[in-house]
Amino acid sequence: MSLRVCVAGVTGWTGKAVAQGICAAKDMTLVSAVSRSAAGASLKSLGLEVDTDSAVIVAATLEEALSQPVDVLVDFTSAAAVKDHTLLAINKGISVIVGSSGLTADDFAAIEKLAISKNVGVIACGNFSITAALAKHFSLLAAEYLPSWEIIDYAGATKMDAPSGTARELAECLETVRQNKLGREIKDVVGDSAARGAQIKGTPVHSLRLPGFVLSFETIFGLPEERLTVRHDAGTSALPYVDGTLLALRKVGEVKGLVRGLDQLMFGKR
Ligand SMILES: NC(=O)c1ccc[n+]([C@@H]2O[C@H](COP(=O)([O-])OP(=O)(O)OC[C@H]3O[C@@H](n4cnc5c(N)ncnc54)[C@H](OP(=O)(O)O)[C@@H]3O)[C@@H](O)[C@H]2O)c1
Repeated sequence: MSLRVCVAGVTGWTGKAVAQGICAAKDMTLVSAVSRSAAGASLKSLGLEVDTDSAVIVAATLEEALSQPVDVLVDFTSAAAVKDHTLLAINKGISVIVGSSGLTADDFAAIEKLAISKNVGVIACGNFSITAALAKHFSLLAAEYLPSWEIIDYAGATKMDAPSGTARELAECLETVRQNKLGREIKDVVGDSAARGAQIKGTPVHSLRLPGFVLSFETIFGLPEERLTVRHDAGTSALPYVDGTLLALRKVGEVKGLVRGLDQLMFGKR
């Protein structure tokens, strides 16, 4: 049976690309969608290529969109909306793919508790790019053998946050593999210690914000006489996030409770 999916944020940069990917997939059906500004519109009128028999009309609220049978909610809305959306879906026994960023550790704890009590699966990931998940996995693998690393986080000039959520998450996960070995303690740096980057769980993270960059990160491992660089580059469209979201949609039925990170879904918990 085709997986019945609702996309919240269907008019957005990411949600629209994901909705298009769902419409093109043979094993799933976009049965409902949410956007406040496009409420009442058909998917076709939003520019989506849909089956001629698709009768989906965009709903103004998630409550309305979930009034019909839905197996999985995909949320690419905003930090302000995602927690309520996720809890609402879980309470109805509907699995959730959380694409929106901005949830806190406390939010995730509440989501996990409810998901377990309702026996529902939730997959949350700050970066649904499969190649970015591979780059993270390779970095964590390398850290098992190589004791010293730093991260460079590249983005366009106007990106609000620094470092990126992807770079921060990577630094936090590297610490779970081993403690990064710096040749000189940051406190012992002569000059301006800020020049050694943000210190995240022992990893120096250097954020470049310049025109000409989109979103990239590098984990650089150094040994005497050799270096290893693991690098990921994303382009300007939301296409990199579609395949990972479809992967999560196909696996969420096997999940009970919360899985965080596409790499955990692909390679298991480290
Ligand atoms: N995990 C990943 O790989 C990944 C990748 C890209 C982006 N993101 C995250 O995904 C989220 C969306 O990013 P984006 O760039 O696609 O944003 P966007 O272009 O601004 O789109 C947001 C979408 O959500 C809808 N929306 C916003 N608030 C809503 C609410 N309260 N109720 C219902 N619908 C609402 C908007 O439509 P209306 O305003 O008409 O309601 C629009 O369709 C952000 O948190 C972003 O950081 C994650």
